[in-house]
Amino acid sequence: MKSLFLILGCVVALSGCNYRESKVPPQPVLNASSGLRAFQETVYAHARANCVQCHSWRQPPLFAAENVEEAYAAAKPYADFHSIKDSTFVFRTKNGHCGQACETDGTHMQALIQEWWEKGENAQQPPTPQESTLLTDAIALPELKKIKGGFVKLSWTLDALTPARVQQTSERFELEVERFDVSSYRFRQPRIHTADRALEVRGIKILIDGASDLTGNAYLKIENKIAAHSAPLLSIKHQLVPVSSAAEPIVQISFRHLAEIPNVECSEPTLFENKALPILASRCQSCHGKMPSSQFHLVNETEEACRASRQLVNVVSPLDSPLIAVPFLQAASHPARVLTPEEARSINDWIAAEVKSW
Ligand code: HEC
Ligand code: HEC
Repeated sequence: MKSLFLILGCVVALSGCNYRESKVPPQPVLNASSGLRAFQETVYAHARANCVQCHSWRQPPLFAAENVEEAYAAAKPYADFHSIKDSTFVFRTKNGHCGQACETDGTHMQALIQEWWEKGENAQQPPTPQESTLLTDAIALPELKKIKGGFVKLSWTLDALTPARVQQTSERFELEVERFDVSSYRFRQPRIHTADRALEVRGIKILIDGASDLTGNAYLKIENKIAAHSAPLLSIKHQLVPVSSAAEPIVQISFRHLAEIPNVECSEPTLFENKALPILASRCQSCHGKMPSSQFHLVNETEEACRASRQLVNVVSPLDSPLIAVPFLQAASHPARVLTPEEARSINDWIAAEVKSW
């Protein structure tokens, strides 16, 4: 047994080496001018002096080609700007494959790539939105044999998001599930309960037994900011997911992005005050102003009211915003239809503006 582990260890170590050597697939060149110029003054100049006899014509990659644009395109996959010391270029100037110029300690090449990055390549990279993904613990899916037997609430803590010393145990994600038919479960009412801080969430995926069904992805489009101490309904959509064949099926939730933010701000407060608030105050406040039976708390103060309403807006698909879809279209259970079409339209005017500048 012991020797098996040893062998495995070697294989891992070897493939680690191979990885460095392997050919990285060429990546498309973006509209290039600033990165191209920076390349020309740094790695290209060095390559034209030291690597040209092979990498300008007969030995791909042709990052020392006479045509600098061609060279730039060929060079990019071999520089890793996120971890410069791990660039293939750096490794290659250390492995001796070209004589003296490739028997260095790699620092010169690192400095050149750094300069390439700072002089212009950095302006070039599409800004990647900061994503911080999170996978919850797995919980057992309750037995749901009876078709349309009613929804069961599932709940996950979000502690993994928080450093252990400040765990906010009341932060959690909730979802309801029922058996829909012979071959599928039906999920509804995704909700994040926040504690002392506001959170931003994007892209929610349901994983059954570790895998997700890519055809059912209504919650992938969720994109919301949630104020502290609230729990807005994140989507009015139901999602069907194929039934598990496992003896004890498990469910996990993956968030493409879930992170703390300073607060939730409305970007169109004046429009809210004129177009939405009067209607909300007259039509909804009687119940939602004091009602503990709903998660929608509509207070008297304008800014707070806007924040609470904003959380029920669907950025990606405004017409599916729970704020309107629940009381007007009855997309989720609601005691009464309490809006006229004109009133719904007026609130929608605010929603449309709000999502534009969100
Ligand atoms: C004498 C010819 C020669 C010179 C000079 C030379 N190389 Fe190479 N280079 C090769 C050969 C041959 C290969 C492909 C075979 C291999 O993997 O060793 C290669 C491959 C590479 C690769 C691709 C590695 C991969 O994973 O695909 C890089 C990057 C590279 N060289 C960098 C350099 C740099 C930087 C210089 C100049 C400092 C240089 N080479 C100079 C012969 C040369
Ligand atoms: C007669 C009382 C009453 C009135 C008036 C009322 N609601 Fe509700 N609303 C409820 C109740 C009760 C629930 C909870 C229903 C449930 O969970 O079954 C609810 C739920 C909701 C939800 C879902 C909240 C969530 O997170 O699950 C939204 C959104 C909502 N109402 C919006 C409105 C809006 C907007 C108005 C005014 C246009 C309004 N409601 C007027 C009683 C009312």
